[in-house]
Amino acid sequence: KINPPSSDEAALLGDRALLSFVQPRQNEDLVKQLGDQGATVLAMDCIPRTLSRGQAFDALSSQANIAGYRAVIEAAHAFGRLFAGQMTAAGKVAPAKVLVLGAGVAGLAAIQTAKNMGAQVYGYDVRPVVQEQVEAAGGIFLKVDFEEDGSGAGGYAKEMSDEYKEAEKAMLAKALADADVVITTALIPGRPAPRLVNAEALATMRRGSVLVDMAAVTGGNVEGSVSGERVGGGVDGAVSIIGYSDLPSRLPATSSNLYGRNAAKFVLSAGPQTTGEKGRLLLDYADPAVRGMLVLDDGALKFPAPVEPAP
Ligand code: NAI
Repeated sequence: KINPPSSDEAALLGDRALLSFVQPRQNEDLVKQLGDQGATVLAMDCIPRTLSRGQAFDALSSQANIAGYRAVIEAAHAFGRLFAGQMTAAGKVAPAKVLVLGAGVAGLAAIQTAKNMGAQVYGYDVRPVVQEQVEAAGGIFLKVDFEEDGSGAGGYAKEMSDEYKEAEKAMLAKALADADVVITTALIPGRPAPRLVNAEALATMRRGSVLVDMAAVTGGNVEGSVSGERVGGGVDGAVSIIGYSDLPSRLPATSSNLYGRNAAKFVLSAGPQTTGEKGRLLLDYADPAVRGMLVLDDGALKFPAPVEPAP
């Protein structure tokens, strides 16, 4: 199953094995129920991302990539102008300025897509290591005038200091007022999404500009965004704020295809290859990818997995 099962669905599972985006930290009751049933549970969302072993079944990445692409399509649809600049007999059209905040998997996909559509693209992230990736995807990397590295554990971001946030606000104020389209993807594991666009900044944005808040479901990077909805914000509500929470589902064929491949690759490679018994799911506990995703093993709680020392 893709999303965590309901209690009734979990009951149907009995003591079998479940592979799903379980989110064990947020769904303690579900984990307890499945544990009592003696089920084995593997969480797709707990894959150790930076491990090369895990890449083939990293569904977080395969889906974030699709979501980043689709965010640009939604923005282009809501935006009343061209993305690419043009010289026409009727006059010159300037390219749209697209600003992408948070350059993880989804952000980089958005940068690449917007660039391919002819926009002028800017990217920003608290992890300075991303600069090269933003540039390789065709974006211009924006920097905050304050030295602090936002890299946390496992390649994810950490919460920044108050001084950094002040400097970030000043840099973003300028970039936001100048942008036609803004796509925000900023997340910090285990914390509410950082607020990057407040009402004050929204008020400086041009009429007709569009924001897609990909973090709307976890509290939102944009003040006033509503998960699952498109709403108006800024002066006279003339800025569109899109908070759709089902972006991968809006490209169902690609997302199903890639998720299916991620899941199949995991099941086929999760067990010790030499002692494999046909028709049974075997788990190799020494495999850090398997261990990272294992929440329950025949009902026994295995979450959270011990933290792997950095390579
Ligand atoms: P995410 O969805 O957790 O966060 C998105 C981005 O928001 C991150 O790049 C983060 O640094 C950024 N962010 C957080 N706070 C911010 C703020 N205040 N302002 C601007 N940006 C902010 O990230 P995602 O896409 O899940 O990637 C997490 C990490 O995992 C990355 O380092 C990525 O490169 C790494 N990764 C590595 C893989 C591999 O080695 N095979 C595969 C997939 C991901």
